Amino acid sequence: MSHHSGYYLLGAFALGVAVAAAYNKHRDTQRHTLIDVDANRHLKQQQKLISKLAKINDLDTLQKSLVQFENSLEKGAGTIKEGIEGCIGDTPLIKIKSLSEYTGCDILVKAEFLNGAGNSPKDRVALSIIEMAEEKGLLIPHSGDTIYEGTVGSTGISLAAICRARGYKAHICMPNDMAIEKSDLLLKLGAEVERVRPAPIVDQNQFVNLARKRAEEHTASPDKPGRGLFADQFETEANWRAHFTGTGPEIYEQTGGLLDAFVSGAGTGGTISGVALFLKSKLPDVKIVLADPPGSGLYNRVKFGVMFDSKEREGTRRRHQVDTIVEGIGINRVTHNFDVGRELIDDAIRVNDQQAIDMAQWLVEHDGIFVGSSSAVNCVAATKLAKTLGPGHRIVTLLCDSGARHLSKFWKHTEPVGGAENDVSLEKILDA
Ligand SMILES: Cc1ncc(COP(=O)(O)O)c(C=O)c1O
Repeated sequence: MSHHSGYYLLGAFALGVAVAAAYNKHRDTQRHTLIDVDANRHLKQQQKLISKLAKINDLDTLQKSLVQFENSLEKGAGTIKEGIEGCIGDTPLIKIKSLSEYTGCDILVKAEFLNGAGNSPKDRVALSIIEMAEEKGLLIPHSGDTIYEGTVGSTGISLAAICRARGYKAHICMPNDMAIEKSDLLLKLGAEVERVRPAPIVDQNQFVNLARKRAEEHTASPDKPGRGLFADQFETEANWRAHFTGTGPEIYEQTGGLLDAFVSGAGTGGTISGVALFLKSKLPDVKIVLADPPGSGLYNRVKFGVMFDSKEREGTRRRHQVDTIVEGIGINRVTHNFDVGRELIDDAIRVNDQQAIDMAQWLVEHDGIFVGSSSAVNCVAATKLAKTLGPGHRIVTLLCDSGARHLSKFWKHTEPVGGAENDVSLEKILDA
């Protein structure tokens, strides 16, 4: 064994002994300590110290640092999360280096795919819907009470996971043209899944209408235990409020209030409305910009005050919701959740499918970030906005879910990721 590896072994051993001693010393305290508001700060301090320790290459300094580490463990007691619900919110804000270098702006993304239950911003909404219903006495655990929802996938996955944790059942109605991974995942979470033909909102069997009907049927049925609760993500107050009290304040805190614009797509509109309402209350000059895929009526609503053009009018097109491979954003009606923040939206940027596909691939090639379609749309729009605003601005957007949810559909359209030398340039992506 070389002198060099012997040294690292000794260091690792010393670190192990110190960690074990500190852990034993504080185990009981940790067991009885409630999660406190400083928990995350302590955790971050510990992570910093550990990474510092790994870089030390003389023994005296290493020993001194171990004492510091032990003290930080003491302070960090209480960082244990209360169930999977405790892993929702407080997501990291990440600077996308490639897009920031290209634009001369800070392009910051809130990593909402790191929410711990269903791995999307819908965790916040699902938890908020369930907690609100529990407060009103509308849900009783282990009674057979079942939550019904119409969703393109993400909200269903979050609801199904949290329902399991809280003793409820979940029944999800979704369009049958959404990526199969999402319904597979729902089934693995023990939800009942109905994949239905895409249809306009005027159709009683449209996925949202069907979920409402199923909830009513459950409540009326003498054969089914418990009651049916329609989650109603498009219209419920719980949706935008989850972002008003969570996502918005987190962005404000993580940027120290220093941001020029927030960019987001809208599915229900809960995210853009909730964040806009919070940020504009603190920063009246912040720009709120909608990122919209093809076929959605929201772009026209924001830019010109009219919801539909003849091509996009709901009920006249064969394929409802919108004509795009992007999932989760774009809609052809003004939902309550969009309406709540509608007047605060300053501008809209249209992003086509090719741009979204190329951006998703770009993010993997250059930044090692593997995301789904709505996240890619957000990043195209944020980069376009940065080019318009000019260097020196700071723009925040969201990474909603992982590319793993989109392998069979959106990601199927990408070229194999082979190396940065193969990609389309950002200029081309933005101009496509
Ligand atoms: C993956 C994904 N991204 C973004 C959104 C849009 O969020 P919101 O419904 O808050 O507008 C959704 C909505 O379902 C989604 O599934």
